[in-house]
Amino acid sequence: MRVDILTLFPEMLSGPFSSSILKRAQERGLLEINLVNIRDFSTNKHHTVDDAPYGGGAGMVMGPEPLFGAVEYVSRELGFMPGVVLMSPQGRPFSQALAANLSREKNLIIICGHYEGIDERVRDTLVTDEVSIGDYVLTGGELPAAVLVDAVARLIPGVLGEAASAEEESFTTGLLEYPHYTRPREYRGLEVPEVLLSGHHEEIRKWRRRQSLLRTLERRPELLHQAELSREDKKILGEIRDLLTGLNLS
Ligand code: ADE
Repeated sequence: MRVDILTLFPEMLSGPFSSSILKRAQERGLLEINLVNIRDFSTNKHHTVDDAPYGGGAGMVMGPEPLFGAVEYVSRELGFMPGVVLMSPQGRPFSQALAANLSREKNLIIICGHYEGIDERVRDTLVTDEVSIGDYVLTGGELPAAVLVDAVARLIPGVLGEAASAEEESFTTGLLEYPHYTRPREYRGLEVPEVLLSGHHEEIRKWRRRQSLLRTLERRPELLHQAELSREDKKILGEIRDLLTGLNLS
């Protein structure tokens, strides 16, 4: 996958892509990240990219020329127009499902917004998808772009070492993950649950599933409505409900 990230602050993005898994993905040719400086496409002599809003008001608006210039430059280089994602708090909420959809694309252009906003004509004509990473406002779209690329890239086949590690985790299964433990068996008096030391694979599988269900029920109960639950899962949830009723907590 090739991702062209259009930004006024490329230096904010070079860090996240130059270590760990994303670095290795690029070295192995699975991912190509191009940081495109929007300012390079400014058409005025001071290389400005923003202007006061028509109609008045505070703040500055990123004008259309440099953004059209940058997107058209990338699409000319590619020979076609890929999907153009705008990072903005007004976008649709980012999710694991959206990351999975985007991971199937060969190319993406991501626009990192700044200032008070971008000229609406960019949205109307260039942007195919506007995405928010959460209901809070950041200083710009660079960190959100890094979040999106990280979540998408790790779903590209071959990027993670073991195929299973992306499939079993939180949100892919619709449930939160069960707790993990490693050596030592006892740390400062804290013991690893006995069942995990038993070597009994079926018991371990059941324990983990129960923990996933418990954790989801406790922390994110709304996820249970969407999750694919087996008969065994429903039985476990029924047992938990009976336990709670027995304790007279409800
Ligand atoms: N730009 C500023 N805040 C943002 C957010 N929450 N998501 C995406 N882009 C943003």
